[in-house]
Amino acid sequence: MNRVVRFVPIALTAWVVLAACVTAHAGESALPHLVQKDGRHALIVDGAPFLILGGQSHNSSAWPATLPDVWSAIETLHANTLEVPVYWEQLEPEPGQFDYSMVDEILRGARDHEVRLVLLWFGTWKNGSAHYLPLWMKRQPEICPRIVGKDGRRVDSPSPHAPALLAADIRAFSALMRHLKEADPQHTVILVQVENEPGAWGAIRDYSPAAQRLFTAPVPAELLKALGKGGRAGGDWTAVFGKDADELFHAWSVARFIGQVAAAGKAEYPLPLYVNAALRDPLTQPPAGTYESGGPTDNVLDIWKAAAPAVDLLAPDIYMDDTERYLKVLDLYGRPDNALFVPETSRTPAVSRYFFAALARGAIGWSPFGIDGHLAPATSALPASDTAWEPFAANYRAVGPMMPAIAKLGFEGRLHAAVEEKGAPRQTLALGRWQAVVTFGPPTFGYGRSPNGNPEPVGRVLVAALGENEFLVTGYLCRVDFEVADDASGAQRELLRVEEVRYEGGAFRPVRIWNGDETDWALNFGSAPQVLRVQLGTY
Ligand code: DGJ
Repeated sequence: MNRVVRFVPIALTAWVVLAACVTAHAGESALPHLVQKDGRHALIVDGAPFLILGGQSHNSSAWPATLPDVWSAIETLHANTLEVPVYWEQLEPEPGQFDYSMVDEILRGARDHEVRLVLLWFGTWKNGSAHYLPLWMKRQPEICPRIVGKDGRRVDSPSPHAPALLAADIRAFSALMRHLKEADPQHTVILVQVENEPGAWGAIRDYSPAAQRLFTAPVPAELLKALGKGGRAGGDWTAVFGKDADELFHAWSVARFIGQVAAAGKAEYPLPLYVNAALRDPLTQPPAGTYESGGPTDNVLDIWKAAAPAVDLLAPDIYMDDTERYLKVLDLYGRPDNALFVPETSRTPAVSRYFFAALARGAIGWSPFGIDGHLAPATSALPASDTAWEPFAANYRAVGPMMPAIAKLGFEGRLHAAVEEKGAPRQTLALGRWQAVVTFGPPTFGYGRSPNGNPEPVGRVLVAALGENEFLVTGYLCRVDFEVADDASGAQRELLRVEEVRYEGGAFRPVRIWNGDETDWALNFGSAPQVLRVQLGTY
């Protein structure tokens, strides 16, 4: 009895401490955040890896008159996340007076439609210009100066060397984040973009007197240290960086500015933050001045990392449709120190296939741009109607229902993908003991009529390695077969079992077994969102 009496308080204390820890942990983990393991990343939402199956609205759509089209586009697309702007000019119509009505309407709409939000802060920079500054700021150009080009003419791009502009942006972005903290306890907003495609078009950097003074001063020691150039201490930008000095100086200046905006917002409410990039050609090392200068292009990612540690990731807006460039961009931005996220990509139907390529590289999300209003794709032979989005919707119809499983498999590095290339209808995927042989084109029966390409290269396949001999497969307009990788062994593959499965209640449940015609000519995928669990053996 005594023993029990003595034991109970200890057990209770332990239980209370444990409960407090669990509660604190649940509270923290409830806030969306990024995690990294073995060089791979996951966005954790409600305690589990989450994939942003996104769609971004047009720029001028975050208004009561246009949001209904946005919500219906989100439904058409089967997206789970809307990316939508918050306009500084709307949020702060008078200095220090904030109007949260649009943010609140967007939050309400997202909850009604059961989707998450990525909010895009259209603040100081929008595509290199400052067109979203509130009117009262535009009327005071002395506090929000434009940069000065090499020829002395003003360029339509905000100066990152403008303390009053920085202070105003910090105040407004902080107000937004403070409001989200109060208005969004259920974490509808899972990620926030700080500014939009910052940098400058039409000049490599600012040549104003204020900028010149900094350009001819020693390069900040913390940057030298971060780049492993500590030995160059005391050198000015030209001395340290030579011909790249102008661009690197602008990247550092823009990133420092945005890093401070991000840090202030994060201090209010620590959601994950990112900055998106207007890209340069990833293959040709083009000269500075031929692309937007100062944003997080692939050549200055290390500078951005050093200058803006409060920015969690740097994200490519991919408007290059050719496979080599697209995949190269994915490889350049998916790094152990940078989670891969594609916040914008073109709405050309064939671009839909790169969604699987992004997933196979561990992306936390992906989103076509301009989903609402005119639903026609930018360049396509397909008709200008909802059906033009079909190849995109097919992605989300297939992956959406099993998103938690795919997000986890991606974080574990178990995803593989093949995407169709014009004129190359056959590809192989190395899967350890096996290789998947993927041929593209509408499904057919019989070996003699192997698919030889789709009219547009929209075909793709996603394979998850569940075990050495077990794979999850989904595809679009393609055929998938498996071979023993070591063909000298003489062993031939046997499809031991092919189950069509559906993800329900946290597990894949069998719908039916495919056999006979459905497997005699390998696994043929049309446009239906079919997912197969394949067990392989040999004979
Ligand atoms: C990239 C920008 O980030 C978007 O806001 C939009 O302007 C698109 N370009 C238009 O294609």
